[in-house]
Amino acid sequence: MSTVKMNVEGKTIEFPSITGSESKKALDISNLRAETGYVTLDYGLKNTAVTKSSITFLNGEEGILRYRGYPIEQLAEKASFLEVAYLLIYGELPTLDELDKFTSGVTNHTLIHENMKKFFEGYPQHAHPMGVLASMTCALSSFYPESLDPNQEEKAIDQTILRLIAKTATIAAWSYKNSVGHPVMYPQNRLDYSANLLYMMFAKPTEPYEINNKVVSALNKLLILHADHEQNCSTYTTRVVGSSQASLYAAVSAGIMALWGPLHGGANQAVVEMLQKIYDDGGASKENINKWIARFKDKESGQRLMGFGHRVYKNFDPRATIIKKAADEVLDDLNVDDPLLDIAKELEFAALNDSYFIDKKLYPNVDYYSGLLYRAMGIPTDMFTVMFALGRLPGWIANWKEMVEDKQPITRPRQIYIGENKRDYMPIEGR
Ligand code: ACO
Repeated sequence: MSTVKMNVEGKTIEFPSITGSESKKALDISNLRAETGYVTLDYGLKNTAVTKSSITFLNGEEGILRYRGYPIEQLAEKASFLEVAYLLIYGELPTLDELDKFTSGVTNHTLIHENMKKFFEGYPQHAHPMGVLASMTCALSSFYPESLDPNQEEKAIDQTILRLIAKTATIAAWSYKNSVGHPVMYPQNRLDYSANLLYMMFAKPTEPYEINNKVVSALNKLLILHADHEQNCSTYTTRVVGSSQASLYAAVSAGIMALWGPLHGGANQAVVEMLQKIYDDGGASKENINKWIARFKDKESGQRLMGFGHRVYKNFDPRATIIKKAADEVLDDLNVDDPLLDIAKELEFAALNDSYFIDKKLYPNVDYYSGLLYRAMGIPTDMFTVMFALGRLPGWIANWKEMVEDKQPITRPRQIYIGENKRDYMPIEGR
C-alpha cells in the first residue's frame, strides 16, 4: 500500500493512498484529526470523496458516464428504463427471467392506497408537483410501517424498492392531474413503465388515449439518462438521510427535495423559462442573443446561463449530446416547430464561442435540452423536474442500498467554529 506523507507542524503523518477503478486516486484522511487535531475545510465538497462506490463511473474531463461499467450511450440506445433500474440497484444486467419478475413486480404495485387519493384534494391546485411528490413519497411510509427498518431481510427491502418505483410514477401523474383539475387515471398493467406514465398523465376518462411509441421511446431514453450520476446533491442527500437509518421512503423524499433546486434538477424548468424570456425579448436575432450572453457573463445581473456548467463535467456532458440529438429527432417526428429550440441552438453556439464560457469550461449540461424534449412531448414545465426525479429514483435507491450494505456510519461532518468565544450571560437590563 502506498502512502502520502504530510508535514503538520513539524510532525510527519502518513496517509494511505487509495486507487479506485480507472486509476482514480484518493487520500484516506480518516486518522487526520486523531493524529494532528486538524480537520479539513472543503466548501461544496469539491475535493472530497464521500464514499467508495461501484455504481457509476464519471470522468468529467473526458465526458464519460457509465453505469456499472456500461457506457451511457449504449444503455440509452438499447435498454429499457426498468432494465437499467435493475442494473443500477442489483449490479448486473437482468436475465430475461429476472427482468420479467422485476417488471411484473413494479407493474403489480402501481396502485396507491385509495386513502392517498384523498390527500391530493388537500393540496391547492397550484401546488408545485415536486413538493407534492416529495411529501406523498414520505407519506407512503405511513401505509407500510413494517418496512421502515433499513436493516430488514433482503426480500422485504426488495418489496419496498418495487413499491417505490411503481407508486412514485402514479403519484407524479396524479399530482399533474390535480394541478389541471382532472380526474385521476388508474394505472394500466398492460402498458410498460413509460407508456403507463404517459397514460396516467394524459388520458381522460371521456375519450380513448392513443399511445405514441415515439414519445414513449423518447421518455424511456430520458429516464435512463437521468437514472444515476454518482454523488450529486440529491443522491448524497439520500445517503445522508439514510445514514441515520431513517427509512428508504424518508431518504428518497429528501432526495426529491434536494433535486428541486434550480442549481440541480430544477434547472430543466429554469432553462425553458429562460428561453421563453429571451424569445419574448426579441427572439433569436444575433443582437438579442449577444445581449443575453452579456447578461449571463455579468455577475451583477445575478443571472446565469441555465443548463450550462457542471460541477464535474469540464467538457461536454455526454447526456446533453444524446438529448440534443433526441430533441431534434422527436421534434421532427412529431412535427413540432418550437421557436425555443432555435433560441437554444443560437445561445449554445454563442456561448461555446465566447471566451468567458470557454475559459471557465462551461458546456451544456443534461438539462439544457431535456426541457425542450419534455415540452415537445406535451409535458408541462413544472412537471420537468418530476420526470427527472422518476428517472433518478433507481440511482437514489442503488446508492442507499450500497450504503446500508456497506454498513457506513452516520454522516456527521465537522465545522470550524468562527463565533464568539465564551462570554457570560448579561441580564436584559444591562444589554
Ligand atoms: N452561467 C454563467 N456563469 C457560470 C455558469 C453559468 N451557467 N456556471 C458557472 N458559472 C461561472 C461562475 O460564476 C464562476 O465564475 P467565477 O469563477 O468567476 O466566480 C465559475 O463559472 C464557476 O462556477 P461555480 O458556481 O463556482 O461552479 P460550481 O461547480 O459550484 O457550479 C453549477 C456548478 C451549479 C452547475 C453551475 O455551473 C450553475 O449554476 N449552472 C447553471 C444551473 C444548471 O444548469 N444546473 C444544472 C446542473 S446539472 C444537474 O444538476 C442535473
